[in-house]
Formats: sequence, C-alpha cells, structure tokens
Amino acid sequence: MGSKDEGRSYPADTLGMDKESMRRLGYAAVDAVIEHLENKNNEPAIDSATPDSLLNALGGALPEQPKASNESFDLLVKTALHHQQHGDHPRYFARVPGPSSFAAIIGEWLGTGFNTIAASWPGGAGPSAIELIVIDWLRQLMDLPKDYDGVLVSGGSHASLTAIAAVRGQWGDGCVYLSDQTHASLIRALFTLGFPRELIRVLPSDDRYRLSTASVEEAIANDLQCGRRPLMVIATAGSTNTGAVDPFHELADLCEAQGLWLHVDGAYGAPAALTDSGAQSLTGMNRADSLTLDPHKWLFQPYDAGCLLIKSGVLEPSFTMNPEYLKDVQGSDHAVDFRNRGFELTRRSRALKLWFSFRTYGVSKFREAIEYSIRLAEFAEEYLRKDTHRWEVVTPAQLGIICFALRGQSAQEHELRAQSLSESGFACVTTTKLKNRIVLRLCIINPLTTQRDIRETINRLGE
Ligand SMILES: Cc1ncc(COP(=O)(O)O)c(C=O)c1O
Repeated sequence: MGSKDEGRSYPADTLGMDKESMRRLGYAAVDAVIEHLENKNNEPAIDSATPDSLLNALGGALPEQPKASNESFDLLVKTALHHQQHGDHPRYFARVPGPSSFAAIIGEWLGTGFNTIAASWPGGAGPSAIELIVIDWLRQLMDLPKDYDGVLVSGGSHASLTAIAAVRGQWGDGCVYLSDQTHASLIRALFTLGFPRELIRVLPSDDRYRLSTASVEEAIANDLQCGRRPLMVIATAGSTNTGAVDPFHELADLCEAQGLWLHVDGAYGAPAALTDSGAQSLTGMNRADSLTLDPHKWLFQPYDAGCLLIKSGVLEPSFTMNPEYLKDVQGSDHAVDFRNRGFELTRRSRALKLWFSFRTYGVSKFREAIEYSIRLAEFAEEYLRKDTHRWEVVTPAQLGIICFALRGQSAQEHELRAQSLSESGFACVTTTKLKNRIVLRLCIINPLTTQRDIRETINRLGE
C-alpha cells in the first residue's frame, strides 16, 4: 500500500523496510562489528577457504523470492566476512595491515546511509566541503606548501595513476625514473597509461634499497644524449619491502635542476611524518610535486581511502569534463567539482570518515598510535638481535617494517614457516625477496599489537 502526505500519495516502497526491521538489522550490524572489534584477538589473523566451499556455502540459485534476512545476515558475518585476511588483527603483519578505527567506521557508514556523492559542488556541496577540509588537513600534516590541493581516491595505486596521468596530460610523454623497490602499482600505472617500455627506467636500488640519485643522474644524462626527454622521477617514502626512504633532498635538487616532476609514493609510509622520528626519516618528502598516501593504511581508516596531494592547477586541466548533461544545476563560482580532479565521475565521499575520526580522536592520538608502532618495530629488531645465533636482521626496523632471516635455513624453509604460522591463524606473516634472497618480513602498524604479540610471533617462526 502507498502512503499519503499532504494530499500526495506515494507508491509502496518496494525495496524498503518497516522501521522496526531497519532498526533490528541496523543494530545487529553494529553489534556484529563491535563483537568483531572486541574479539579479534582470539580470532584467526587470516582464514582462507577453497573457492568450492565458499561458493557452495554462499551461492545457490538466484534468489528470485526473498529469503530470511537473519539467515543471510549470519551467512555474511560468519562465513563471508570471517574468511579473509583481518588486516585489523593485532598479529596481522603481512603486506600492509589495515588497522581501521571505530570513529572512521562510523563516518563511512553515515556516508553510505545517506548515499553520499562528492562529484560536483552543486550535487554534493557538504561532502565536497568536507573533502576540501580533509585534503587541506592532510596537506598540513605532510608539511606541503599551501598551493597544493588533491583528491581522495580508492588507494595508493589509483592516487599514483592519477598523478602520472595529470603530469603526462600537461607535459606529454617522457622518461620516468624509478627503482626496483618502487611499488608494482606504479609500473602498472605507467603501462596502463600507455607509456612505452623504453621510456620506463627501473634502476637498481642501492645497498639500503633506496633509489640512488647517482643512478638517476646517469640515466638522465644517457637519455638526453640519445635525444629522449626526461619527464618524472618516482621516489618512495617507505618501500613496501623494507620501509626504505629514498633521498628526497638529493632527488628534489636533481629534479629542480633538470626541470623534472618529482612524485613520491608514500602510500603506507607518509603518515609517519606526523611523528618527530618519522618526520626526520622522511626529511625532504615535502619537496615532492605530488605525493600519494593511503589513509586506509597508517591513518586507521577502513578501506578504501587513498589520497593524492599535488601542486594546484595540475589535475583540472587533465580531467575536466563539463558536458551539457552535467551542467543542469549551477554551482558557485570557484567551487571545486571533484569529478574534475580524477578518473571518477560518480564518487562516494571518502572524506567523511577522515573528518569524523580526526575530530573524534584528535590528531595527537594518531601521532601517538604511529609513534607506538615505529617503536614496536624497533623492539622487534632488538628482540631478534638478542639471539644472533638464530636470527639475522636483514634490514633494520624502518617505518614499522623489519626483514629478518633464520641463519642456515633455506628459502623454502622460510616460506614454509611463514605459511604454517599463517595457516595456524595465530599471526599472518609473509616472506619477501631482497636481492634474490627470501626473508621474513613484519609490517607493524597496528596500535593494538603488543610486545608479547611480537615475541610470540618471532618465537613461533623460530621454533
Ligand atoms: C608503497 C606502496 N605503494 C602503493 C601501494 C598500493 O596501494 P593500494 O593497495 O592502496 O592501491 C602500496 C600497498 O601496499 C604500497 O605499500
């Protein structure tokens, strides 16, 4: 049956629910999340399953008729959501964890509940204002000059893709210099954008896994001699493998002298700049022409949230589109239409959760949490160095990452131990490859991880 309001009649809300059912399901969702957050310590850090078992449990015939929502809810929570890597688990140390925070989750839910859109100013003035504010907060935290702006995107891959597309859109093709430690998403971005292979210079990293300024200099000289045009250097603020930080001042000097663009990928590492010790490690990062950072990593936001900060006036010339069908609602002069700062037209608001969590906790709590994990990785290093007969520290603790190896054990043995620890569910640890050597790696960025978690994880790997 439809409803009546001031003489108008509405059709029945076919896809709606009565208030009671909405509340029951909504509260059940909140309870399930709180339960997860409270108990994750006792749950596996990762739990996978075979495609067959999950497709059988969750699939079946297309549900032409409604099914009991309780049953579907349980299947989602207990089966689908259980079987994944829990990047917010205190002993999830693989890849880059995702230790999201509750205030940020609430910001995310509100955005979804209001079906928020941040594509144009007229269509999304409130969320766009929030995004402008958050981008400026992030700019300040990264100590970038005032004439930088940016855009929130799905993650680090998308942020760097956006930066490279914008730079190329303005200045055309040219050689790009990066290292063998640059995240794979950057090379993929170059290929996606159609950069020919011969313009991509992947240079060997130095003995600390950093991009060597001398090798970039040499490559540029060589390209100039061959009549090729150097375009861009891609540096890293916290490499995924070892947490290595490239020499920004040297690279920025070189880029300034040669008229090259300096893009810095700080997807996981850049937020360390909020702390004194991190800011010291990242000195010169604020000389980047563009900077990628991922709030869904070390800024405690649920997926997804990536950010590109970039010199003002570079995004719009490459991405602006104003077709007649998008002009039907007039905006204010000088308002930002975020659809014109990147690849997305319809785009959700990723800023709400950042805004809400920054205000709820205060940036000081973020600093504390980041500082804590930098120290905890240093604790892991100290702990390993106490047993030098068993352990070798391969790369020291840098921005929360440490790589280490068991003396006298094969590559296969390292892989096996990481795998069986992860299969046990106690912790999730992976290996990585450094200069052709397989080593164990911990990425420690969760403020809920304890020294005991570190000791027990290392002990189990060593047993
Ligand atoms: C240094 C670095 N760059 C880029 C990325 C890609 O980020 P995303 O997975 O958010 O696209 C990662 C992911 O771990 C990373 O560590």
